[in-house]
Amino acid sequence: MLGTLYVEARLKDGTYHGFREQEIRTEVAIQIHRSHKEVKVGTAVRLGGSLSLLAAIERLDITGHSKSREFPDETIYSLVQNDLEILVYSLWPEPDDSSGNEDCQVNEDENTTSYPHPFDVLALPNRAFDGLWESLVYQDPIGELTLRALVRAVRKRRGDPTSWRTSSWQNTLLLHGPPGSGKTALAQTLAQRLSIRLSNIFLVTKLLQINAHMLFSHLFGDTTKKIGRLFETIAEMALNDSQLIVVIFDEVETIASSREKAAQRNEPGESIKATNEVLRSLDKFRRSSNVISMFTSNLVGSLDSAFVDRCCLEEEVNIPATECVFEILRKEINGLLQCGIVFCETMIYEAWSDSTVTTRASTPNLIPSRQWANIHWPSTATTAVSELYRIAMLAKGLSGRKLKGLVTNAQYKYLVDEPSDLRDLLVALEAVIRKATRQRTNVGKQEEEEAANQSDVAKFLTNLEADENANGMNS
Ligand SMILES: Nc1ncnc2c1ncn2[C@@H]1O[C@H](COP(=O)(O)OP(=O)(O)O)[C@@H](O)[C@H]1O
Ligand SMILES: [Mg+2]
Repeated sequence: MLGTLYVEARLKDGTYHGFREQEIRTEVAIQIHRSHKEVKVGTAVRLGGSLSLLAAIERLDITGHSKSREFPDETIYSLVQNDLEILVYSLWPEPDDSSGNEDCQVNEDENTTSYPHPFDVLALPNRAFDGLWESLVYQDPIGELTLRALVRAVRKRRGDPTSWRTSSWQNTLLLHGPPGSGKTALAQTLAQRLSIRLSNIFLVTKLLQINAHMLFSHLFGDTTKKIGRLFETIAEMALNDSQLIVVIFDEVETIASSREKAAQRNEPGESIKATNEVLRSLDKFRRSSNVISMFTSNLVGSLDSAFVDRCCLEEEVNIPATECVFEILRKEINGLLQCGIVFCETMIYEAWSDSTVTTRASTPNLIPSRQWANIHWPSTATTAVSELYRIAMLAKGLSGRKLKGLVTNAQYKYLVDEPSDLRDLLVALEAVIRKATRQRTNVGKQEEEEAANQSDVAKFLTNLEADENANGMNS
């Protein structure tokens, strides 16, 4: 066999998890082999047959191949040459529906202050993250490669529980980059994919989302205590080895800042102790195959180097380059086209003069990819694709988070009619993007000026301190 194809079967809402899972797997495998000779990764599979068992399935997707070299992978794989791994899952309700979500609180001593919840627990896979994986666009396939690495690591450790003795591997991932670049979203969606991909091993997956800010306390010794208790709670949950625990620590620089820099700055020992506690606690998880820790940081430079060394997977997540901006906007606009909020009479705005083209390629219903447009439309044509790409070039420097809001912004601000014409939406989008980049440049200038002023203040204070010292010595 060349490798394994991952097939994900989502059960309809209301079908409880574990529902005749083995029977469904067998039946799906039989049906796929019966109705297909080959399948394409990244597509949904339709099955014939009227078995009531299959009626419980909401959708069936071919989501990947164990040895894929391409991401996104759209390879066609022969079913004779590849194994099938069928993963049956159902989505837990979103947190507000309460049943899939528990708030947790680390037990506090009676004589210590009461803190707000340091983390939420969410059962995975969860409806809250449905569609998130598909919506994220990065320059490199960081999601796919990280997913593959973590799945392999967990399986390997599971197959050989003593391997931690000889390997320094830990299930730890650090995502760093500027704010709004999609680090938290990537961690959440990775946790979701892991819960499905590893559902043959773990009956339950729990996601713990921790805001590191909540652990930091100005009371002496409190931060260390809170960190210690938090890790103890995670360790207790991990004792149940049929349970996969994914922990997301957002803005980890708060609790794992560089000890060296703190010592140089003569800072109080609190942050140094906090970092020590994080390192000590992380080391305890070295032998656990069912704990995956994901950290995000906007300030990688301020992290402790021993902490960064413990992150076996490290990825830089950047604000989107033009190609990614185009894809993010295209996905969002296509969502509006699909649900009829936006309509489009033609994607071709200006007929091209190239006389060699005799037939106009049929206009697609959704904005096609640039690859499609390059094949079907001459490069001289003005189309929805060329217009959107031109607009994407204007959005340089805007974060993914900012971009996601701009399509809605354009729609609400400038478009009166609904459904609205795609051409009008693009004009409005250009206006809001021009404004957003202008504002961003102004904010940047202001920040630079503030930094310059601050360094003036710092110089002044240093001089003042030096003067005082000199005076002190003289008197
Ligand atoms: N590369 C991206 N592709 C698509 N959407 C993105 C991207 N980056 C950010 N977003 C959008 O912005 C939202 C917020 O991003 P988030 O993960 O909170 O950023 P960060 O944690 O890096 O500050 C995401 O939920 C997503 O909707
Ligand atoms: Mg974040």
